[in-house]
Amino acid sequence: MVNLGIIGCGYWGPNLIRNFNGLADSNMLICCDKDVNRLKRIKGLYPNIETTTEPATLFEDPRLDAIGIATPVFTHYKLARAALLNGKHVFVEKPITHSFETCLSLIEIAKNMDRVLMVGHTFEYTAAVSKIKEIINSGGIGVPLYISSVRLNLGLFQPDINVCWDLAPHDISIITYLLDQVPESVNCQGKSHYKKGIEDVATMTLNYKNGVIAFIHTSWLDPNKNRKTTVVGSKKMLVYDDVEQQEKIKVFDKGVDAPPYYDTYGDFQFSYRYGDIYSPRLEDYEPLGKQCEHFIDCIKQGLQPLTDGYNGLRVVSVLEAASKSLRSGGESVPVYYPYDHEKVLQPHAFQNTGTDG
Ligand SMILES: NC(=O)c1ccc[n+]([C@@H]2O[C@H](COP(=O)([O-])OP(=O)(O)OC[C@H]3O[C@@H](n4cnc5c(N)ncnc54)[C@H](O)[C@@H]3O)[C@@H](O)[C@H]2O)c1
Repeated sequence: MVNLGIIGCGYWGPNLIRNFNGLADSNMLICCDKDVNRLKRIKGLYPNIETTTEPATLFEDPRLDAIGIATPVFTHYKLARAALLNGKHVFVEKPITHSFETCLSLIEIAKNMDRVLMVGHTFEYTAAVSKIKEIINSGGIGVPLYISSVRLNLGLFQPDINVCWDLAPHDISIITYLLDQVPESVNCQGKSHYKKGIEDVATMTLNYKNGVIAFIHTSWLDPNKNRKTTVVGSKKMLVYDDVEQQEKIKVFDKGVDAPPYYDTYGDFQFSYRYGDIYSPRLEDYEPLGKQCEHFIDCIKQGLQPLTDGYNGLRVVSVLEAASKSLRSGGESVPVYYPYDHEKVLQPHAFQNTGTDG
């Protein structure tokens, strides 16, 4: 049994509490929030879980093996650091911290304390993203040419971070996982319409060494909830629509063949291919449950999580470059990631075998 505490019981924290509470190998002992009304709600749902307004109560609790953190981004570093230094395994919501330095510091502390550090890049635990990875790796769509990702909705406006730091971590983590590399540079443009300095709409371009390009469009100011990722390959094209209930992934046997050479304008003819569309079957499970289970497994078996500290660092590196680009009006900014930009997956990478139900 892994004894667990959660700090932050706002919008997202209760989802972690529900999932950890439902796992056979974890024991949700205590929850913390500085807002007592949040704690009352948790107590109403789970009368056996203890509550406190003081994070230190969790750090000093000798019964606890691990702490999950679902508080606003600027509090992550301080809370995660204290938890690690008190010998707890730590799970932190995305983005792992607000800067490269703070993230690296957590990685080093976790290493020195021999504790698991994991970030909540939930989409890497979805059946859909695992399936897309499988399709790409098997050459099913040919060589990836570009990826385009949109994550739009009306709200939720955040008071302290812009839309890039709020929504794009999901897209960056998905794209990094799929391409298995970190972009060399980023261009980012955005606009704040409601709160000065906090962009509510933005577009990001990620430029990769091997010529692949990726676009991410995020917005809190859109009439529709839209979560769609398109992967265009040299042979086929794939669309992942996370809002879709039944057929989340569609693979299109569509493409363009250019003539190998041409002498005259008349010879120059692209041929367009309009073939079949198929939707692969996906395992049916809650990704958050899979992610929580993976955290517990890593603690019990001493494994490195799929979404470990470096995985968090890669996303923060891209976000930092995007922030610099945003301030410069969209100039290209190199991504500072002083490790291998390619082959980023860890040797103990999680195998998503999926579960039914
Ligand atoms: N993985 C996902 O899909 C996903 C989805 C939504 C949010 N998140 C992440 O979850 C985290 C929290 O987001 P949210 O939307 O739940 O925010 P929120 O503002 O709704 O909740 C945060 C809670 O933390 C509490 N809190 C703040 N500082 C605290 C402190 N020092 N000690 C104790 N409690 C404190 C607040 O009172 C609040 O109840 C963020 O990192 C966010 O990016 C992840």
